[in-house]
Amino acid sequence: MKQENFKMIATTFKGLERVLKREVLELGGQKPRELIRAVEFYGDKGFMYKANMKLATAIRILKPIAHLRNIKSVAALYNKVYDVPWEKFFHSRKRIYFHVSGELDTIPNTRFISQKVKDAVVDRFRDRYGNRPDVDKDKPEIIINLHLFRNQISISLDSSGNPLFKRGYREETGFAPLNEVLAAGLIRLARWNGDTHLIDPMTGSGTIPIEGALLAANIPPNIYRDEFAFMHWHGFDKDLYNLIRKSLLDRIKEPTDLIEIIGYDNNPAMIEKALKNAKNAGVEDFVRLEVKDFFDTRKIPGPVTLLFNPPYDKRLPVKNREEFYRKIVRHLNENFRWSNAWLLTPEPLQKYFAKKPIASYKLINGKIPVFFAGYELA
Ligand SMILES: C[S@@+](CC[C@H](N)C(=O)[O-])C[C@H]1O[C@@H](n2cnc3c(N)ncnc32)[C@H](O)[C@@H]1O
Repeated sequence: MKQENFKMIATTFKGLERVLKREVLELGGQKPRELIRAVEFYGDKGFMYKANMKLATAIRILKPIAHLRNIKSVAALYNKVYDVPWEKFFHSRKRIYFHVSGELDTIPNTRFISQKVKDAVVDRFRDRYGNRPDVDKDKPEIIINLHLFRNQISISLDSSGNPLFKRGYREETGFAPLNEVLAAGLIRLARWNGDTHLIDPMTGSGTIPIEGALLAANIPPNIYRDEFAFMHWHGFDKDLYNLIRKSLLDRIKEPTDLIEIIGYDNNPAMIEKALKNAKNAGVEDFVRLEVKDFFDTRKIPGPVTLLFNPPYDKRLPVKNREEFYRKIVRHLNENFRWSNAWLLTPEPLQKYFAKKPIASYKLINGKIPVFFAGYELA
């Protein structure tokens, strides 16, 4: 049966809009358009299932269902939200939760707005069916996303539920692990696509090599997840979902011995965690994770891409930090000639490399503004 296309919005981190747009296009999403920290596109129900399983740089995939304008009073807010045909989308017995972002010029108190929206949704169900959805922050089945702007509210259903960076492979987090979506984004910003060796010489919990292996083996990052919010919507098509999931599983590639994906760390406890995580992600045969000090690492034969985020201690005096970066760059220059080195750091490293980067991006890691740049080592 031919499915209808509708608009979706995939959210991401600042700076990853372009790589997310490319992912959406490659997957077959229609009319993708970059927004701020998001990409809008069109597709059908099956594409929404596929996008949730496969997009590595998306945090959540939203389906806009209403756009309310001219909200100038609390009464207008309540009435307009009440008029949204909520029962078309989900059952009155579902556990619901609201995510609110932005602000209204007309009603300044965001908590109060959420409360009123909740009342309107619940009242509509109670008036029609005599029962109502419960609000549940911890285990919601339906997540309603409200974006407030001037005197308008965009209302979307979050089709993902748990954010898509929760891939399920990282039970064991190390000190300052990278967010999975950010790691997937860095790999794509560096334009690595499995054609060179990938080495993360300070790998911590292994996020970079694991995300690299998922890309190289064409493993959809969320293929093993058993719960997405769209499963709780009216019209969830389990057969279609299973069909799409199977077709994605069929496209997973066998590990190749042409390229290596390597993670080193000088802390044995971190490598132990990274090994567990790689196993959880089903990529233990694609990656090599070893205890090794960065300053003992050497280039391996063949083209190499290094990609890493060195530890960052804000409390370190600037002089020590400078010395640390200088040592890292010296080691790279002396031992990884003809490789490309991509680093995520809180300050630009151009002065240490004494050359222009191949490309440089401003990103946010957690709450810290960071630079991500690649250098050709000659
Ligand atoms: C910021 S963390 C990297 C986090 C990692 N990307 C992740 O997702 O978990 C930096 C890592 O560098 C490691 N490290 C610090 N100095 C090192 C060295 N000289 N050689 C190898 N690893 C080192 C630390 O043990 C730590 O795991």
